[in-house]
Amino acid sequence: MALRNIFKEGEPILRRKARVVEKIDDRLLTLLDDMRETMIKADGVGLAAPQVGVSKRAVIIKPDPDSDEIIELINPVVSEKTGVQVAVEGCLSVDPSKNCKIARPNRLKVEYTDRDGNFHSEYAVGFKARVICHETDHLDGILFIDREYKK
Ligand code: NI
Repeated sequence: MALRNIFKEGEPILRRKARVVEKIDDRLLTLLDDMRETMIKADGVGLAAPQVGVSKRAVIIKPDPDSDEIIELINPVVSEKTGVQVAVEGCLSVDPSKNCKIARPNRLKVEYTDRDGNFHSEYAVGFKARVICHETDHLDGILFIDREYKK
């Protein structure tokens, strides 16, 4: 495993739509391993491949900030968003001075493939739903600052 450089706001790759992962090969597994190490070192709760300069639809998340569990989502697709939760968000790619309140759905359905090629379809609520939204936004070139909640 190796630490990767985290790309910051202003880098074009953070504004690009990431490419679908066509096959789970060693290159992708190494990427996921490196993303884990990079996120832990940076004390983050989520990281998307474009943030380490790779235009692929892969993200990792910590579903619970108080647990060490990390989930890897390949080609995640979010649907069935319901409810609203508002909380302050930050991002490893954005200066902390820009942290701000963001409205996110409180519940959603997420479908993804894991590193073993298994397909998952499940529901997430609360913090986990928030992090999934934040990270899947990265795959579409969206940063949380685009969604600032002004009210
Ligand atoms: Ni982020």
